[in-house]
Amino acid sequence: MNLQNDLLLRAAKGETTERPPVWLMRQAGRILPQYRAIRERLSDFKELVKTPELAAEVTIQPVDELGVDAAIIFSDILVIPEAMGLDYLMEEKRGPLFPRTIQSDADVDALRTGEDAAAHLQYVYDALAHTKRALNGRVPLIGFCGAPWTILSYMVEGSGSKTFSKSKKLLYTRPELAHRLLDKITEASIAYLKHQVSSGADLVQLFDSWAGILSPEQYRTFALPYISKICTALAPLVPVTVFAKGAWFALPEMSDLNCRVIGIDWNTEPGQARQWIGPDKTLQGNLDPCALYAAPATIETAVRTMLDAFGPRYIANLGHGLYPDTPLDNVKCFVSAVKSHRYKA
Ligand code: CP3
Repeated sequence: MNLQNDLLLRAAKGETTERPPVWLMRQAGRILPQYRAIRERLSDFKELVKTPELAAEVTIQPVDELGVDAAIIFSDILVIPEAMGLDYLMEEKRGPLFPRTIQSDADVDALRTGEDAAAHLQYVYDALAHTKRALNGRVPLIGFCGAPWTILSYMVEGSGSKTFSKSKKLLYTRPELAHRLLDKITEASIAYLKHQVSSGADLVQLFDSWAGILSPEQYRTFALPYISKICTALAPLVPVTVFAKGAWFALPEMSDLNCRVIGIDWNTEPGQARQWIGPDKTLQGNLDPCALYAAPATIETAVRTMLDAFGPRYIANLGHGLYPDTPLDNVKCFVSAVKSHRYKA
């Protein structure tokens, strides 16, 4: 189907656009009253993720309400551990919790991978197909998954963590077991992303949310090779975005990844990121989500400064996901400030 608004895909491929496309990580969710209304009717978050009609509806809400240039499928990175055999709970106000975690060789052996794991995620493929149909070509649809290191962290820690000492301990004490687990996560993620593409995803993004917890040497050993494998498997199909939160130190090496777009967080200077990545990839980011608590005039100035600093070959976004208590009008102010920008001919 032809897209009426293909700014995101053109920017991702490095084509000239009249203005930068804009979307926000975590644009669907509690900032929108329409989302809260649906969420209140359901017993939990997972019911929403696993009901394709509803997942499609909340995926499209930010396109209608905020006027963003892309939809991102409503799901979670934790569906992969679940498909591999490790169930999770989403605890209200506390976040994810895995009752069982990965500790031993036998635990890793028992996990499903590749197509066996991906076959358990039909509800995501159905949600994508549903969304695609309902969007009717208005904007591109983004698919996603967690990067292998971030998924390993959840599978070993069992929840979020301040130090990630359990998952880092595994890297120091059982590197071969860590590699075996990373391999299985990688194969499951590749199969999963390929199904997302055949169900309608126009671009896929890898979220390496806990990248910044690793040293450069560990990132090179335990994270980048697996991200690279996923990029190379998906690159012939759709543009790929890699967002490694906190991993500014890895940007020079990330310039070699077989991906079109690199996500940048707010700890990184846009000019420095461009220097490290070089001219051949699109950059995405990077306003501090907390900047959206400021007054509208301050947000407009921050957006202008950001757009000038990045220049062309760029997708406007935040440097991490939107916080649920951000005032809706401030989010709209961010989006319209980007949309009123024009590149000089
Ligand atoms: O961006 C979008 O709008 C699409 C949906 C999306 C969700 N999670 C929905 C969600 C995406 C892309 C994610 C990715 C995700 N999930 C990441 C990577 C991005 C990042 O933030 O670093 C991570 C680390 C997770 C794991 C996760 N899921 C946590 C830690 C939490 C609890 C914290 C919180 O914000 O409540 C979730 C729950 C979750 N995932 C919610 C949403 C909308 C909140 C549940 C609700 O309020 O109904």
